[in-house]
Amino acid sequence: MLQPLRTVLHRSVHRSCCRSFSLSAQTYSTGRKGLVLGVYEKNKEEENVVFTQAGNRFDNVVSGKLRDQLNRSGPSLKKGKTRMFYGLHEEFPSVVVVGLGKQSAGVNPQELWNESKENIRTAVSVGCRQLQDMEVEHVEVDPCGDAQAAAEGAVLGLFEYDELKSKKKTKVAAQPYGSENLDAWQKGVSYAEGQNLARYLMESPANYITPSKFAEILQQKIGALGGNIKALTRTKSWIEEQQMGAFLSVAKGSDEPPVFLEIHYTGSQDPNDSPLVFVGKGVTFDSGGISLKPSSGMDAMRADMGGAATISSAILTAATLKLPINLIGLAPLCENMPNGRANKPGDVVKAKNGKTIQVDNTDAEGRLLLADALCYAHNFNARAVVNAATLTGAMDVALGSAATGVFTNSSWLWTHLHEASTVTGDRVWRMPLFQHYSKQVTESALADLNNVGKYSRSGGACTAAAFLKEFVTVPHWAHLDIAGVMSNKDEVPYLRKGMSGRPTRTLVEFADRLSKDRKPT
Ligand code: BES
Ligand code: MG
Ligand code: ZN
Repeated sequence: MLQPLRTVLHRSVHRSCCRSFSLSAQTYSTGRKGLVLGVYEKNKEEENVVFTQAGNRFDNVVSGKLRDQLNRSGPSLKKGKTRMFYGLHEEFPSVVVVGLGKQSAGVNPQELWNESKENIRTAVSVGCRQLQDMEVEHVEVDPCGDAQAAAEGAVLGLFEYDELKSKKKTKVAAQPYGSENLDAWQKGVSYAEGQNLARYLMESPANYITPSKFAEILQQKIGALGGNIKALTRTKSWIEEQQMGAFLSVAKGSDEPPVFLEIHYTGSQDPNDSPLVFVGKGVTFDSGGISLKPSSGMDAMRADMGGAATISSAILTAATLKLPINLIGLAPLCENMPNGRANKPGDVVKAKNGKTIQVDNTDAEGRLLLADALCYAHNFNARAVVNAATLTGAMDVALGSAATGVFTNSSWLWTHLHEASTVTGDRVWRMPLFQHYSKQVTESALADLNNVGKYSRSGGACTAAAFLKEFVTVPHWAHLDIAGVMSNKDEVPYLRKGMSGRPTRTLVEFADRLSKDRKPT
């Protein structure tokens, strides 16, 4: 099971002139302790290092020794670059100073994100990892003027999926340096732990995270949270009763039974408030089915449940933060495998709303699961329906890992998603839902719809979105194609290589923003 990162939040009480912080004996009785401090890039005219508030405070504690040593130890620290100092302070044998970039950084309208927050996440993650490599178990972190971003940098940066390895990374407990901003720090911890849960689920091998195991883990996590969040694990017979013929047609190609996971979080004061409904594609392994994928890189298809993982983790995080909103999460979970009962190219299946679909390519399976889940989502009088899916390789071709592609019929939803993403740094980019694409999926020799576009590869992400649109009648719907952001090589510096858990934090921030906007219902 996932061992959540231990994050220590004992309120430290200042002793006289910041000499040290009172420490909880049980927390710090053993192990070495490190400190991560940020430092801004110098302007040309500045001769001295430019510390953050916390950096200045620490430098005062050590009588200016840090400033002195930094000034003498080489050129000004560039963004994300580090320098280590040993023996400056009894309590912190190792101090790592990290470049934060320009102090004037803020929202960059070209990049559509907050550069200052991104710099903080990056710097803190680099510093924490350096101390982790030195097997330091307790780290205090400079909040760098934005404790939430700093906490995100620490908790995201330190995550490593090593559950199945004998040799594990040092577990590091991070807490803010100083006793201010604890609420913001804790919020950042929750956001990042939410994303880390999605990373864990996505990274785990498909023989560990089957549909049933996915549901079991979520049930267990939700049970531990208790209160106003619950999960229903619907089995195959329920899915059959619901006449989810498209979803079932994919599931029957595998020996693993399908599951339809339904999460309800009632955070709003009025339990009858219209909910925000999240839907997530949950293909725990996508071999392609009879339209088998090439073997190279197929292992990455263990993360084809990224939609289910990110929406479930986002709802858990919303519940942890007690966001005043009602949320429902729907995750159709199955494998896409090529057994003797699997879908065959040319088969016709019937979705929950009665529409028939010609399955010309069994590898375009995500839209079949989502078609039924979207129909079901219409039972809840939703304020908005937002689905996330690792839907098309074409999305990766279009935007790479820079941003999630958003296809939406609602500018209101778009604005909230977009604004949320500039804050989290996990960006979105609007994509078209033209009739042009709908025409390409509504022409089928045998059925109402075809599961692939008429011109096969052209505009693949857009034809997939147009297909989903055929199952949506609500005025506020957004489809997030997260295939391009599914994994990280080194593009996001505060995430290690591996499955990314994106865009969990954007979904949480979006839900938070929606909870503050009463319109439209
Ligand atoms: N799960 C894949 C899409 C995917 C590809 C996600 C790469 C993440 C990384 C999806 O089920 C799929 O196979 N889509 C096909 C659709 C095609 C057959 C129309 C694709 O993109 O090739
Ligand atoms: Mg596929
Ligand atoms: Zn897939």
